[in-house]
Amino acid sequence: MENLQLRTFADYKKAYKKSIKDPEAFWDEVASTFTWQKKWDKTLEWDFKKPEVKWFQGGKLNITENCLDRHLDTLGNKTAIIWEPNDPDEESRYITYRQLFVKVSHFANVLKNNGIKKGDRVCLYMPMIPELAIAMLACARIGAVHSIVFAGFSSSAIAKRINDSDCKMLITANEVYRGSKKVNLKEMCDKALEQTPGVETVIVYRRTVEPTPMKEGRDKFWFDELQKAEKECPPEVMDAEDMLFILYTSGSTGKPKGMVHTVGGYLVGTTYSFQNVFQLEKDDVYWCTADIGWITGHSYIIYGPLASGATTVMFEGIPSYPDYGRFWDIVDKLKVTHFYTAPTAIRSLAKQPLSFVENHDLSSLKALGSVGEPINEEAWHWYNDNVGKGNCPVVDTWWQTETGAIMISPLAGITPTRPTFATLPLPGVQPVLMDNEGEEIPNTTEPVEGRLAIKFPWPSIARTIYGDHQRYKEVYFSTFENKYFTGDGAYRDATGNYRITGRVDDIVIVSGHNLGTAATENAIDEHENVVESAVVGFPHEVKGNALYAYVILYDKVEPSEELEKEIKDIVSQTLGPIAKPEKIQFVSGLPKTRSGKIMRRILRKIASNDTDNLGDTSTLLNPEIVDEILAEAKHD
Ligand code: WTA
Repeated sequence: MENLQLRTFADYKKAYKKSIKDPEAFWDEVASTFTWQKKWDKTLEWDFKKPEVKWFQGGKLNITENCLDRHLDTLGNKTAIIWEPNDPDEESRYITYRQLFVKVSHFANVLKNNGIKKGDRVCLYMPMIPELAIAMLACARIGAVHSIVFAGFSSSAIAKRINDSDCKMLITANEVYRGSKKVNLKEMCDKALEQTPGVETVIVYRRTVEPTPMKEGRDKFWFDELQKAEKECPPEVMDAEDMLFILYTSGSTGKPKGMVHTVGGYLVGTTYSFQNVFQLEKDDVYWCTADIGWITGHSYIIYGPLASGATTVMFEGIPSYPDYGRFWDIVDKLKVTHFYTAPTAIRSLAKQPLSFVENHDLSSLKALGSVGEPINEEAWHWYNDNVGKGNCPVVDTWWQTETGAIMISPLAGITPTRPTFATLPLPGVQPVLMDNEGEEIPNTTEPVEGRLAIKFPWPSIARTIYGDHQRYKEVYFSTFENKYFTGDGAYRDATGNYRITGRVDDIVIVSGHNLGTAATENAIDEHENVVESAVVGFPHEVKGNALYAYVILYDKVEPSEELEKEIKDIVSQTLGPIAKPEKIQFVSGLPKTRSGKIMRRILRKIASNDTDNLGDTSTLLNPEIVDEILAEAKHD
């Protein structure tokens, strides 16, 4: 396998320049280092107006050949996945590239035996165990499209996602360990399956020995199915633009968006960025703490690292179990060299006594990564000083489910870092800042702030929203002409370094998870006593942001703690516990414009206790409501 790594800052600058001057030649060269069954005919075809983006058309490949088969000769005995269980007393599992290849091929035949064909959608609702990796790669092996639903989501969230993309099969585990708790995943699935007529088969992996109720004809155990399956499975021939997976992300309306990624561009984008951002050496051990249910896990636990022949760690548990030293215990035990986590985890660990970090030997570490939300100055320094001991570059990586791969980030040890800055775009990425009039802010040496857009396609951009191309166009390509709009705001300093300032739309990032406020509002409004609600984000010390809900009750209903609890429960049940509002304020009305739109700007300021300057409220339909809300606002 050829190495894609840039080694110096001068290399980076040269590559960047080339990638802008002649993007096709640049990506042609990168793409040619992968294993293709047939070379592509056309590197790029694009039109952001339609919108349409196609990379490497006519090229034939299978992503699992690139993640598995091509390593067998040289890296067959190298550890591909180290699995670290929730319980530190349970044994870790080491899976070599050859073993993973065998397991994936074997399970791919289970899929086939159960009627799954190229193009069929398969939903995965699984804990962080190697079988999740095996199942997703097995789908890719036969050209089935995986749709992974984070195993913290509720039954109705699973059902919605299964139905939206018409999944034929669901793969799950009976139970999952999470810290000191055990969660029954199969029960959640059974409830979801009452509403999903399209699912024909459910494959259940036994993570625990508890008896598991199975539905005759529909539910099958993982191991039983393996017994019946052949071991060898040739990779399906896929077109570069065939669908690889769907992954749902929150939108500004209540409906999640099924982002579609395709085989060729996604492979090229995730692998190129993985190798350049992290700069792994041959025997390094890389650990990304994300859950595979999110894009970070897809791109940087599985596809990017495996296509690079790296050793990637998968952790089943949580940072606080059995105590707050668990992350550092694992780094020490597995001699982790590259550690990639989220600011919310850093902040929660920084609140604990430093002894949890100091009790472990972290000298194996070479580089640290951050992802998912802006990293504040304090967390950045704590991470750099106490975990990296000032010796490890911190790469603050900005990207999105939609971008598939890291877009703006330092390259570890190469790009000069600056606290809270994601710094510079990767080669091939052309960011621009847009002003309030929708004009591009010129790229001068003046520090500027604006809305972040991208003006040229990159290989791993999501191609559409499953079943709703019109929405894809509206959300990403209609704010600015001929540009992809990220939904984020950003600041650019005099030397061109970017700092992401946060979302500028109705998405709030809570503990690194994207939440659409509309989805929480819809769930709250389901309560029989609720007339209307408005949900906004406010800054939270550990979670980054939390949700604040303003709720109007029906006339004769009295606010109560009981009611607050019921409302939180309804959100938990509908969307999952992560979407639960932190604070609920019962109000008699919401500030509205004359056209009936809720003035969220005001509600955000009140929730954030930033009430000195609420702006002009005189144009509101009901300006008096602002004083009432202010008087009863919930501030700690
Ligand atoms: C935010 C996660 C600041 C941003 C990979 C983006 C960040 C959203 C960073 C996408 C970062 C992600 N600094 N903000 N380094 N990384 N974000 O789709 O608002 O779960 O739009 O993808 O997270 O979240 P998603």
